[in-house]
Amino acid sequence: MTQSIFPKNFLWGGATAANQLEGAYNQDGKGLSVQDVTPNGGVPANSADKNPRITDYPTSDNLKLEGIDFYHRYKEDIALFAEMGFKVFRMSIAWSRIFPKGDELEPNEAGLAFYDKVFDELAKYGIEPLVTLSHYETPLYLARTYNGWASRELITFYERYVRTVFMRYKDKVKYWLTFNEINSVLHAPFMSGGIVTPVENLSKQDLYQAVHHELVASALATKLGHEINPEFKIGCMVLAMPTYAMTANPLDQLAVRQFANHNYFFSDVHARGKYPNYIKRYFKENDISIEFAEGDEEILQHTVDFISFSYYMSVAQAHNPEDYNTGRGNIMGGVTNPYLSASEWGWQIDPIGLRLVLNDFYDRYQLPLFIVENGLGAKDVLVDGADGPTVEDDYRIDYLQQHLIQVGEALQDGVDVLGYTTWGPIDLVSASTAELSKRYGFIYVDRHDDGSGSLARYKKKSFYWYKTVIASNGASLYQD
Ligand code: BG6
Repeated sequence: MTQSIFPKNFLWGGATAANQLEGAYNQDGKGLSVQDVTPNGGVPANSADKNPRITDYPTSDNLKLEGIDFYHRYKEDIALFAEMGFKVFRMSIAWSRIFPKGDELEPNEAGLAFYDKVFDELAKYGIEPLVTLSHYETPLYLARTYNGWASRELITFYERYVRTVFMRYKDKVKYWLTFNEINSVLHAPFMSGGIVTPVENLSKQDLYQAVHHELVASALATKLGHEINPEFKIGCMVLAMPTYAMTANPLDQLAVRQFANHNYFFSDVHARGKYPNYIKRYFKENDISIEFAEGDEEILQHTVDFISFSYYMSVAQAHNPEDYNTGRGNIMGGVTNPYLSASEWGWQIDPIGLRLVLNDFYDRYQLPLFIVENGLGAKDVLVDGADGPTVEDDYRIDYLQQHLIQVGEALQDGVDVLGYTTWGPIDLVSASTAELSKRYGFIYVDRHDDGSGSLARYKKKSFYWYKTVIASNGASLYQD
């Protein structure tokens, strides 16, 4: 077999979030999270309405309440990940399992015990956990009582939660992420930041003050983690969106720069420990004045050990987007890029964008990078295979293969990449739309949008493909 260009200890695996797969939303003392009352997902499909549908109480049409029942089936699922050869498994701790309302002084022991069992199961197979501390799962009580991260008090509650899990799992978990896609609060304030103020009433001032609270909380977690166990590797996590100009018009280039700055802002603070000048100018021009409490500046100086990001798509921008009349552009804005095809959900597919973003982040920070989400959401059809039901998901294999080849290119460019975890190695509930028919997995789960299904697990064709990729440390990507 050809010599691999992937480093010897490259961390291959898959990524998940508690609210999208665990289910058991009210068992063993778990409190409600913002996910339990958003049955249609966190990003409205109808661009005319910018707010997700929020119900008063959990409703039976919310697929996240049962998820794929990982809470009871984690042993079976982890065994399947081990069979694929996973070196790492990204998961989140559901904050509301540990602190059901969020502002209690004492944690819920049953919640802590559950994650002990999961980490022990992973350890049995030598799989390293990569744990997201907050993955779109703010306790609902904190959202409704404090308006989520709009309130500075959230820092105290988050710190207590983080300290609790750092202390509890300090010998079981080494890799931590502070907030999932921290920059997404600009696009989805309720799902990402537990902010209940409707988008049309949320001022830029309040939104960026909430961002500040999250940035301080994230740096505080990094500080705490390093104190509790100096071996911890703590990263930030951003939604990466390499941004292209529609034309060579300098005005388009400027539009790109300004759009990109709103994303760089988050990784810049995490990696450089202070607010960049361009954001200060933006604040000034928009009458935003961030309130820094005493000590915030020092706390922000606790910078991360690595930068992690999700990558699904690039974005094309123009200074005059209305002239392109392309509707919504990609999900995070911009205009449609005529050079790219799109997934069934309209997410434009751009493997080269992954090489670009890897180079970009590495040039900017010279810190190790971790690709902690990448994958294709698609409708799968279960067919009879030689060993039982399966899915012939060549489209998914092709997507992942193309992206991994670009990771290989970036490695040859000299970028330091710690690992790669595909999103949803097992089918789970979508974050943006809360569907189960938007499947990402190597493992098919028999559950459907109407809630029916046996929850049985079946290996797709991609299961065997990924197993070979991992076994060969990426060398199989280059064989016909
Ligand atoms: C990322 C999130 O934005 O994209 C995940 O961190 C999410 O939680 C993933 O599931 C894919 O998005 P979706 O909407 O297809 O589930």
